[in-house]
Amino acid sequence: MRVPEWRPALTAAHDAALEWLEHLAERPVRPEVDYDAMYAALHEPMPEAGLPAEQVIAELDAAVRPGLMAMNHGRFFGWVIGGSTPAGVAADWLVAAWDQNTAMAEPTPGVSALEAVTAEWLLELLDLPRSCSVAFVTGAQVANLVCLAAARDRVLADSGWDVEGDGLVGAPPVSVLAGEFVHHTVGKAVRILGLGESRMIEVAADDNARMRPDALADALAGIEGPAIVCAQAGEIATGGIDPLAAIADVVDARRDLAPTWLHVDGAIGLFARASSVLAPKFAGAERADSWCTDAHKWLNTPYDCGIAIVRDREAHHRAMTLHASYLPQPSAARDPIDWNPDMSRRARATAVYATLRSLGRSGVAEIVERDCEMARLLAEGVRAIPGAEVCNEVELNQVLVRLLDPAGQDDDAHTRAALTRLQESGVAFPSGTTFRGQAAIRFSVANWATDETDIVETLEALADAHTRWG
Ligand SMILES: Cc1ncc(COP(=O)(O)O)c(C=O)c1O
Repeated sequence: MRVPEWRPALTAAHDAALEWLEHLAERPVRPEVDYDAMYAALHEPMPEAGLPAEQVIAELDAAVRPGLMAMNHGRFFGWVIGGSTPAGVAADWLVAAWDQNTAMAEPTPGVSALEAVTAEWLLELLDLPRSCSVAFVTGAQVANLVCLAAARDRVLADSGWDVEGDGLVGAPPVSVLAGEFVHHTVGKAVRILGLGESRMIEVAADDNARMRPDALADALAGIEGPAIVCAQAGEIATGGIDPLAAIADVVDARRDLAPTWLHVDGAIGLFARASSVLAPKFAGAERADSWCTDAHKWLNTPYDCGIAIVRDREAHHRAMTLHASYLPQPSAARDPIDWNPDMSRRARATAVYATLRSLGRSGVAEIVERDCEMARLLAEGVRAIPGAEVCNEVELNQVLVRLLDPAGQDDDAHTRAALTRLQESGVAFPSGTTFRGQAAIRFSVANWATDETDIVETLEALADAHTRWG
């Protein structure tokens, strides 16, 4: 076998990665150039002849770096995006170097066993039933899809219908109920599963975007047949956590009448269950049938890693398993291919394992507690800025800010313009939204590195963006 020269290219990547990571704090959080400039800079014909790998890597880094957003910066607050830790990044490098197609246990026992152990650790950390099945997928979008595929299987099987074999034509209708502020990825999963996004039943929410259990009970009373209820632990704008115990009570009361499944989209919040201080806010979550979360959000692993957890292993297995005569035949070992929609896949759980091993439960708890504390500090500081309002109850790590126009004209336009000024300042990067019809700036504190200095600097830049026109 020809042995390629690994060292020059890997050394170039190592140097470039350290240069990026070690100088992150000194650079603007936003990219230095926009997409059009990047496209123009990178656009060239498909090369006919190759180049030495180390040259490719050095030039790639130099070319792309101006267009990188410092998403793992302590003052990046956009959408809901965690940072990454040294153990997670380094483990992901190994994943690429090992190049294990992590579908079957027999050919890849190392990373498959690692995935099984990581799944057990997660159930313990999140305090969910230890017998649940777990899938490591690309993100919460796919985790929602996997959980709802299992839900669809079970509620239809209990209605006498084999959806895997017979599809949906002629099947009993399945009602999907979700809160008014359900994340769009749940709707997309429902669409992909053929359950009809526009047939979903919307359940009213309270002021902090939490599903109302009384409204859920009313909605369920009005329908017959199989139903899937989608609750949420951490709403994208407010961070609102649905009252999960009360919702579980409502669902449990219906289980004897018709097949009913409770899913919790915990993409944002579920890792807060690692903290004994925050866990009570999520009481009742453990009574659900399925849960999704994202390691690449609050656990701060590198992208991409979502996690689907299902109480009903049989339904999960039926919805996702795949067998072929040319593959190793099923054994007693846990084959990743049985639990997720991919066939070939990377050893994605490795970075989760390394992150958990390096932080331990106490380290995860410290991150989620500190981020919530930083969100509270930020909200306090915002309230002290004249004309600035916090629009949500800060129950987790999300802060929604609205800025009143000093000229008394258009608060929406002023809020949006101030957001752009703040992003362009390079000091901090929140993102924007429209919440209950009004423009708002969203701060999501999900990075392990965010500290009080970051909050102070962010507040100064926010006050400046609010008061400085043009
Ligand atoms: C509540 C919720 N669910 C699902 C998702 C989708 O997650 P991902 O982007 O990892 O697919 C998000 C993303 O922010 C979210 O906030």
